[in-house]
Amino acid sequence: MEPTISLDDVRIYKELDPGGMIEAVEGFPDQCLEARRLASEPGALPYPEEIREIAILGMGGSAIGGDVIRVLLEEEIRRRINVHRGYRLPGFYAQETLVFAVSYSGNTEETLSAVEQAAAQGCRIVALTSGGSLLAMARDRDWPAVEVPMGMQPRAALAYLTIPIAVVMERIGLVSSFSQQLEEAVESMRKRVSCWGRIQPQEQNFAKQLAARLCGKIPVVYGTEGPLSVAAYRWKCQFNENSKSPAFHHVLPEMNHNEVVGWDRLDDFTRRVEAIFLVDEEGDARMIRRVEITSELIKENLGGVSVVHVRGNSPVEKLFVSILLGDFVSVYLALLRGKNPTPVEKISELKEQLSTPG
Ligand code: F6R
Repeated sequence: MEPTISLDDVRIYKELDPGGMIEAVEGFPDQCLEARRLASEPGALPYPEEIREIAILGMGGSAIGGDVIRVLLEEEIRRRINVHRGYRLPGFYAQETLVFAVSYSGNTEETLSAVEQAAAQGCRIVALTSGGSLLAMARDRDWPAVEVPMGMQPRAALAYLTIPIAVVMERIGLVSSFSQQLEEAVESMRKRVSCWGRIQPQEQNFAKQLAARLCGKIPVVYGTEGPLSVAAYRWKCQFNENSKSPAFHHVLPEMNHNEVVGWDRLDDFTRRVEAIFLVDEEGDARMIRRVEITSELIKENLGGVSVVHVRGNSPVEKLFVSILLGDFVSVYLALLRGKNPTPVEKISELKEQLSTPG
């Protein structure tokens, strides 16, 4: 489908993006530094020897930061980091479990249910929120809390809902090099904002070009094992929530053992799918080879295949830069589809209906 809107026309941003999602994306590097500052005084924290595992509770835009932390820091802290998206927690979590309860609004019922359970089981709890019941609970029960700025969409507050977790771990003494890697990542992201931001014309702007390629198609995002698997999921969710588009994701190598077979021709449906592979250019040669072979195998039945080569000096940089790119692409795709990227009416409607007794 040929887009009728030009992403180089600065007027469309005011008209179609009144909530300023593009500004939020362009501000991501600065939000990362601000988020680091917010977590510098979280309150009384446990000693490392008191912690057996970490559990991060959240839903949607408040949960993906947990995946980021798990994939970047689990090895370094030498403890399991589990991300829980739902009402319930394992019964074996106890005093030695450090729980991060993350809810941007502070009112998400699954997260509130899970944190109540964590409290009842005696877990140590740190809250990350902009307010709502979670902040009230934290104040009432003396849990350390990181208060994040209000008035954003949770998914646009990713920096605030992710980085404080790493900073708290640094303050406890579980993590040592995150801040340094973050600073380098921020510098690198600032440069990418000038390459992928609004001002950069489409001719030299990969994010705008990819969005144009995706217009009228269903994106299916494949990440390679490790940090880029988390980026792939973020891309998928941002296509859903910002672009209001169906989108799917999976991870290599696992998709090589099932999903790859499913890319048989299905009338003209599969012709409307664009597969996007996120691959670490300096990563495991076996994964690079798998992406090459897989994209060749499936491309004839699809509408297109794009391979995004991710570069960076650290896993933090690679993951944050690829998240930034996906965020840009999703906002541009929304605008090309004539959609306002900010509201998520179906989520709001669901929450509304669930909160009124049936
Ligand atoms: C909306 C979004 C959603 C919310 C989710 C949980 O931008 O990303 O996925 O994050 O509905 O709500 P909160 O974050 O308030 O706990």
